[in-house]
Amino acid sequence: MEHNTRAAFIRQMLKDERSIEPSPEFSYKAHLKSRQDYDELYRRSLTDPDAFWGDMAERHLDWYRSWDAVEEYDFDAPRPFVRYFRGGQLNASYNCIDRHLDGPRRNKAALIWQGEPSEEVEVFTYQRLHREVCKAANVLKSLGVQRGDRVVLYLPMIPQLAIAMLACARIGAVHCVVFSGLSAEALKDRIDDSGARVVVTANFGYRSGKILRIKGVCDQALAECPQVKTCLVVRRIEKRTTMEPERDVWWDDLTATASPACEPERMEANEPLFVLYTSGSTAKPKGIVHGTGGYLLYATLTMKYVFDLKETDIHWCTADAGWITGHSYIVYGPLASGATSLMFEGVPNYPKPDRFWEVVEKFGVNLLYTAPTVVRSLMREGERWTCTHDLSSLRLLGSVGEPITAKAWLWYYSAIGQGRCPVADTWWQTETGGVMITTLPGAVDMKPGSAALPFFGVEPKVVRSDGTPAALGEPGSLVVTRPWPGMMQGVHGNEQAFKDVYFPTPGRYVTGDGAYCDEDGYFWITGRIDDVINVSGHRLGTAEIESALVSCAEVAEAAVVGCPHPVKGEGIYAYVTLHEGVVVSDELRIQLASHVREVIGPIARPDVVHFAKALPKTRSGKIMRRILRKIAAHQTEDLCDISTLSEPSVVADLIRENERLS
Ligand code: PRX
Repeated sequence: MEHNTRAAFIRQMLKDERSIEPSPEFSYKAHLKSRQDYDELYRRSLTDPDAFWGDMAERHLDWYRSWDAVEEYDFDAPRPFVRYFRGGQLNASYNCIDRHLDGPRRNKAALIWQGEPSEEVEVFTYQRLHREVCKAANVLKSLGVQRGDRVVLYLPMIPQLAIAMLACARIGAVHCVVFSGLSAEALKDRIDDSGARVVVTANFGYRSGKILRIKGVCDQALAECPQVKTCLVVRRIEKRTTMEPERDVWWDDLTATASPACEPERMEANEPLFVLYTSGSTAKPKGIVHGTGGYLLYATLTMKYVFDLKETDIHWCTADAGWITGHSYIVYGPLASGATSLMFEGVPNYPKPDRFWEVVEKFGVNLLYTAPTVVRSLMREGERWTCTHDLSSLRLLGSVGEPITAKAWLWYYSAIGQGRCPVADTWWQTETGGVMITTLPGAVDMKPGSAALPFFGVEPKVVRSDGTPAALGEPGSLVVTRPWPGMMQGVHGNEQAFKDVYFPTPGRYVTGDGAYCDEDGYFWITGRIDDVINVSGHRLGTAEIESALVSCAEVAEAAVVGCPHPVKGEGIYAYVTLHEGVVVSDELRIQLASHVREVIGPIARPDVVHFAKALPKTRSGKIMRRILRKIAAHQTEDLCDISTLSEPSVVADLIRENERLS
C-alpha cells in the first residue's frame, strides 16, 4: 500500500470503526478457518473441559505417565488452588527438544540467535540444542543443583538464557529469570525471595551499542547474598572480568568438559517449572509460580492457534526472555511445537530505526510478535525505514503488553502487514501463562483496538465493583470465572497473597484490568485499574517506585501515578513531598529520578518529579490518587468531587506546579 493510500485507509477506518475480515487466502490455510471452527472448539472447551484438555494434552505433549485427573480446582476455598493432569509425568525440556530428534526436525533450526552486532548470528538445530542443554544441565548438577531447587538466571538475550532455562527444566530445577535490565537491589530481592543458591549471569551485554556491566551489577547483588555459593558466568564479550575465586566459575570452562547426555527428570505435572517475578499493588514484587504440564500445554496450544503456527514458519517474538512473553513465546511455546524461534539481542532503533525490518528481511520472518510501544515508536520514525525492506515473508502480526490504539493497529496492519497479514492483539499476563483473549487469526473478524475473543477454556467476564455483571459497553473489572491450564499455581513463599490478590472475592480470578464487552462479545481492554502502571509494556507497581523514592533521606512522602505518554503508553509521574528544610532544585529532581533507576532499573525512572507542598488526602488520611492521576494527565476540568479532601487548597497548588512543569 502506498503512503497516501495508506493514510486515507487509516483515516477512513478510524471514522467507520468497521471490523476487518481475515483474507480468504489466510483463512483457507489456517488451523481455524472460520468463526464456526472457533465456536465449536470453544464450546467444547467449556462444556467438557476434562475431555477437551485431556485430548489436547495427549495429542500435543509426550508423557511418561498419564494423569489421574485432568482439571481440579477450587476458587472458593480459604486456600484456592488449581491443578492440571494430576499424577501425569512429563519433562518440559524433553518435550521441547528430545521428542523432535527422531524425525526430520532433528536438523531443523530450533533457535536462531541474532546478536546486537549484525555479524553475530548463531543457529541451534534441535540436535545441537539438545547437546548444549544436556551439558548445561550436567554443569548445574555438578554445582549441586537438585530437583526443586531454584536457580536465578540474570542473563541478557543470549542463547545461554534459553539453554539455561531448558537445562533447569531438564533436571527438575525451577528457573527464576530476572530481567537483565533490573538493578542490583531488585536482583538481590529476587535472589533472596527465591532461595536460590546458584545464579547464572554473563560478564557483559550489549545495548544500543553500549556495553552493559551485567556481572558488575550481579556482583553488587551477590555481595549481600552470602547464601549464593556459586555464580556461573557466561563469557558474552571477551573483556577483562573480575571473578570471585571462591564463588565464580566460567560457563564455557565447565560446559567444555561436561557430558552431552543427561536423562530428563520425570516431573509430576504440577511440580513447578519456573518462578517469575512481577509487580503488583505491593512494594514487593511477587514470584508467580507456574507448573509444568498445564503451562506447557497452554503455551503450545496458544502457539499453534493464536499464531497459526506452521512447520516451516520462522517465529520472532521480540520480547526479552526475562518476561513471561519470552518464556512462553520464545522458548516453551515454539520449541514444544518444534518450530524455529528467533531470539534477538538488540533494540528496534539501533543502529537505525529499520533494525527490526532488516532482521525480518534477513531471516524471512513469518510471524512477528511485538508490543504496541514498538509499533508506536517505529510509526513515528516514518515509512522511509520500512519501505526499503522486503517484508513479504510476514504472514501474521501479533501485539502484546498494553492496549493498542486503533491508529497504531491500522498502521501495523497496513504498513508492516501490507493489509495481507492478520493482526492478533493478545491480552494476557504473567499470571495467565499464555494468551487469554485474542483475535483467532483466520477465524474471526478483527476490530482494531479490541483484543477480541477468549481462547479455549477461558471464560472472562466484566463485572461492576459490587460483583454484578456489567452491561454491554459498560466498563468494569475483568475477571475470569474458571481455570485454564496456563494459570499460575501460586505465589512463591506467600500462599496468602494468592488468595488476597487474585481471589479477593470468592469464585473468580481478578485480573486487575478494566475492560468492556461489545455486542459481538469482543473484549476491549482499557488498562490497569489497580496500582500498577504499564510503561512500554513493562509492568511496574506504583508502590515499588514510591518505596524507592521514600528511601531517599530528603523525601517525606511520595505518590506515583501513570500519565499518558505518546510512545511509552504510560509515563511515570511522581509527586514528592520533602522533609522540612530541604531545598527544592532541579539537581534534586534528577537525583531522585536517578535513585529510582538505581533501585529498580532504568525502566522505572520517573518521567516527571513533581515537588509538592502536600498531597491531597481524605479526612482519614488516604492519598486521593484519582485526583493525582487527573492532574498528571492535565484533565483538571473534571476533577469531580473534591469535597472529601481534608485541605482542598492543596489541589490548586498541584495544578499550578503541573502547569509550570509541562
Ligand atoms: O494490563 C494488562 C497489560 O499487561 C498486563 C500484564 O503485564 P505482564 O504480566 O507484564 O504481562 C505482559 C505480557 C503478557 C495486563 O494486566 N496487557 C497485556 N497485553 C495486553 C494488555 N493490555 C491491553 N491489551 C493487551 N493486548
